[in-house]
Amino acid sequence: MRVLVTGAGGTLGQALAPALALEGHEPVLLDVRTLETPYRFVEGDVRQLQDVRRAMQGVDLVVHGAALHGIHLRDHTSQEFHELNVTGTFNTWEAAAEAGVRGLVFCSTMGVYGESRLPSGEDEVVALREDLPLLPADIYGLTKTVGEEMCRYYGRRHGIGSIALRYGMFVPEPFFRYGIRLLYGGVDTADVVGSVLAAIDALAARRVNWGAFNVHSVVPFTEEDAAGLLSDPLAVIDRYWPGASQLLWQRGVERLEPIREYYPMGSIQHRLGFRPSRNFDQWLKKLESQPEALADKPSPWP
Ligand SMILES: NC(=O)c1ccc[n+]([C@@H]2O[C@H](COP(=O)([O-])OP(=O)(O)OC[C@H]3O[C@@H](n4cnc5c(N)ncnc54)[C@H](O)[C@@H]3O)[C@@H](O)[C@H]2O)c1
Repeated sequence: MRVLVTGAGGTLGQALAPALALEGHEPVLLDVRTLETPYRFVEGDVRQLQDVRRAMQGVDLVVHGAALHGIHLRDHTSQEFHELNVTGTFNTWEAAAEAGVRGLVFCSTMGVYGESRLPSGEDEVVALREDLPLLPADIYGLTKTVGEEMCRYYGRRHGIGSIALRYGMFVPEPFFRYGIRLLYGGVDTADVVGSVLAAIDALAARRVNWGAFNVHSVVPFTEEDAAGLLSDPLAVIDRYWPGASQLLWQRGVERLEPIREYYPMGSIQHRLGFRPSRNFDQWLKKLESQPEALADKPSPWP
């Protein structure tokens, strides 16, 4: 299948293009920046419909990733978020509908949950399941919620299937921050790529018309862990991974911030057959095998 990736020069796009090729797909990369790449590349701006049309020629499936996101909130205006994330998504859908593509994978975010992330009581830890109301609390979350709604609209209006993947954080981070972030809604970029490939398979086979799924590292927490996750997360972690707190302590992590939320991953596993595999236990194994690795940031984490 010919797969158009918008925002292809970013963290996700750079990891996704070779993975698509390995799976036998033909990647077509669209980015506003010039990219050095062995794959077909179209330089263009998703805010310009004609640019997206140019890239869409002969395309079977789209992965729409071009966006401003969480790290851009501090130095970009709401207007800029709207232009790239809303107009860009609208143009991508318009061009996709004209071209009659088979499906679109929409790169969404945990930010769509917004105020649904707030606990209803002091001793509650929130399990953010996909059916919670979308109550975005910033312009980023709002633009992605609008994007998800566009997916549903173009599905109804044009019969084009789509899947919104609500990623956790995968902005590149140093080793310790990356590992501990896996307990706080983070996810490994390779698992983000895996979720996109699973979504492409489901859309190509027309197994799914619409779905929105969490894409986070898998954690074993349940509602019953709430008190411990809030008061002493290291003790809970030690219960699930015996010896982990000692190992972390030896490497300079003495305390963790309360864990106030987690993201159940059953839905994507059930509907797309995908389960993230680069989870906290994998990172602990890496930590064990690197005796020289010491935390370079004072507790508490993250
Ligand atoms: N990185 C994360 O932690 C994270 C978390 C949740 C969701 N997401 C979502 O995943 C997607 C990919 O994230 P990422 O981290 O790879 O992003 P990134 O910021 O690394 O890359 C974005 C890419 O989009 C390109 N771009 C910017 N403006 C453009 C335009 N007008 N037209 C075409 N291309 C343009 C940029 O040049 C860049 O290469 C985004 O939609 C983001 O909202 C990311």
